[in-house]
Parts: sequence; C-alpha cells; structure tokens
Amino acid sequence: MQKTLLSGVKPTGTVHIGNYFGAMRQFVDRQDDYRQFIFLANYHALTSVSDGDKLRELTLDLALDYLAIGIDPKKTTLFLQSDVPEVTELTWIFNTLTTVPYLMRAHAFKDAINKNSKSFSSDSSEIKFNDEGTLGSTSISMEEYTEHVFKGINVGLFDYPILMASDILMYGTDIVPVGLDQKQHIEIARDTAQKFNNAFGETFKMPEPIILEEVQTVVGTDGRKMSKSYGNTIPLFGTDDEIKKAVMSIPTDSKGVEEPKDPATCKVFAMHELFPGEELDALRARYVAGGIGYKESKDLLVEKIIKFISPMRARREEIARDPEAVLKILREGGEVARAQAQKMMSEVRAKVGLTLK
Ligand code: TRP
Repeated sequence: MQKTLLSGVKPTGTVHIGNYFGAMRQFVDRQDDYRQFIFLANYHALTSVSDGDKLRELTLDLALDYLAIGIDPKKTTLFLQSDVPEVTELTWIFNTLTTVPYLMRAHAFKDAINKNSKSFSSDSSEIKFNDEGTLGSTSISMEEYTEHVFKGINVGLFDYPILMASDILMYGTDIVPVGLDQKQHIEIARDTAQKFNNAFGETFKMPEPIILEEVQTVVGTDGRKMSKSYGNTIPLFGTDDEIKKAVMSIPTDSKGVEEPKDPATCKVFAMHELFPGEELDALRARYVAGGIGYKESKDLLVEKIIKFISPMRARREEIARDPEAVLKILREGGEVARAQAQKMMSEVRAKVGLTLK
C-alpha cells in the first residue's frame, strides 16, 4: 500500500526560488510514489494575517503556484485546511491532553517571548520572581511582567503546534517532509498521538518527518540563506526584469575579468549551482582558470533562471485565466480529505465519550 505523505503550506507571501528548490519541487517528484495530501494552511495563516481579502488573495495565489509547478490534482489531494473544519475539533480534544508548560517549550512561542523580554531587560535571565510573586531584582509584579512578556502573542500562535498535530494525525499520515525549523512540530505531533493513544487506545499513527535540511539550502542574493525576511529573494514567478535586477544586485569581489576566481566563495556561482550539469562544470573550470568576469557570470545566470522560470510562469498565467477551475480542484480535494477526517472523528468522538452510544 502506498504511504501517505502530507504537507501544509502557509499562504503568507510570494514564493521564491528558495521555496521551490528547498521544498515545493519535491512534492512534484513524490506525487507518483505516495498518496499525497497538500493543503493550504489558512487556519494557521490567521495567526498572522487579519485581513480577509488579503488572506483570500494569498491563498488563491499559492494554489496557483502549486498547480503551476506541476502538482497534479489527479495524483495529489490539494485542498484548503479550512475545508476540513474537523481539524479544529480535533485540536480542541488534543488541547485537553496538552499542558501549558509543554506548549511553552515550543520554539516559535519561546522566540516570541524572548523578543518581548529583550525589550524588557537586557538579560532576561536576571528576572526572578520572589516568594511574593514579585520580581526579585525589580519591583515589578508578576502580572505586569506577564502583561509585557506575552504582549501581542495570540492564543492561536500558542496553540499553533496542536493545530498542526491535528492536520498531521487526522489523515493517518506516515511521512511529513519539513524544513529543520518545523522538526519540533513533528515531535509535538508524535507526542500528541502517543498521549491520545495512551489515554483512549490505539488510534493515531506515528508520523515520521523527512527533514529537508540539506536537500538544498538556496543562497539568496546577499549570500545568506534565501528568505523573505532577509529581502534577498528571487520570486519564483518573477518577471524577466525582476530576475535581472535581483541577480545584478548580488555582491562580488573586485577581481578583474582575467583573474582566477573561487567558485566556492562566489555568491553568483552559488546560485548557478541550482542548475547542475555539464554547463556548471564548464563554468567552474572557467572560474578557476580565469577569463570570466562577474558580469558575464551574472548574465549567464539570468539566462538560466529565465529559461527555467518562463514555462512555469506561462503555465501559471494560463491556469489563472480560469479561477473557477482552480476553485473546483480545491473543492474536490477538500471533499476527499474531509471524508477521511469525518471517519477519523467519528472514531475519536466515540472513544473520548462525546457520542452517547
Ligand atoms: N507550520 C508549517 C509551516 O509554517 C505549515 C503547516 C501547517 C504544516 N500544518 C502542517 C506543515 C502540517 C506540515 C504538516 O511551514
């Protein structure tokens, strides 16, 4: 029997070639070998987007992106997270098995708290409560402290990992490919399955992560990891001009055309490496021998990226012309996923005692 592979993607902004090579591409490669579920995590996106039209637009855009790169709705169940409202019900049930301190160990939550407490004290480890529930080193009350440290952190953000556990466990998932930053979330899903199974009997399958850590770390235009938060991205469906502009902005050293260059440290070359093959080997040799300038290397790179992006870009434009067809794909995917979720939930409801007979 085919194994079930599941992944959620949050619609929060324009996808870039780092997303593609780092993660998206493999869903196209794997859809023949797995029973594959991909959903647009719009419930999760609500923890950071609070504009309905914006969320709608981001969600549809992401659906187009996935279809354009070659996700085939005949092979992959592509759907909206919110078309399976059962995941929120399961989240509630899991919440009752989850303690507050357990969730407080989640990295994303800790990061949010750390950011807040940095502005509070240069060394938050100095902050200690004394026996009266006030801080030892300062005169602030525990209430004031809480107010400050949890400021702006919504309960949804706190509970984010449990909603994600519900996504994963709902469909009997075997495998979840994720970036290293999501690894802890898979552990939380596994712990949660265990807790439920211990309390109510064997119900949920243990999911395994595939960590995409070294699959490909795509270098951005400034040499750091390509990431929206660094502003060093090349949009996956960018125009020729956007691509040119981004590539031309890659910093290089001041070596002249004839001088030998080091492919291992050149940020332009790092991006060429996204396209392995004979051409890349030849380019490497030219770098080492000297005789190629950074301008030429950049021009070649622009050419390669455009050649690679333009068919997907054209496909995306074509799909975008028929939004009804896209909605239909999502609706049908949602029906498949939901049918399965309803089956799971009737078992869960019976086990926890929500159904009366
Ligand atoms: N948290 C994931 C991210 O930000 C998105 C996500 C939501 C997800 N539910 C999931 C990923 C379930 C894998 C499985 O990337």
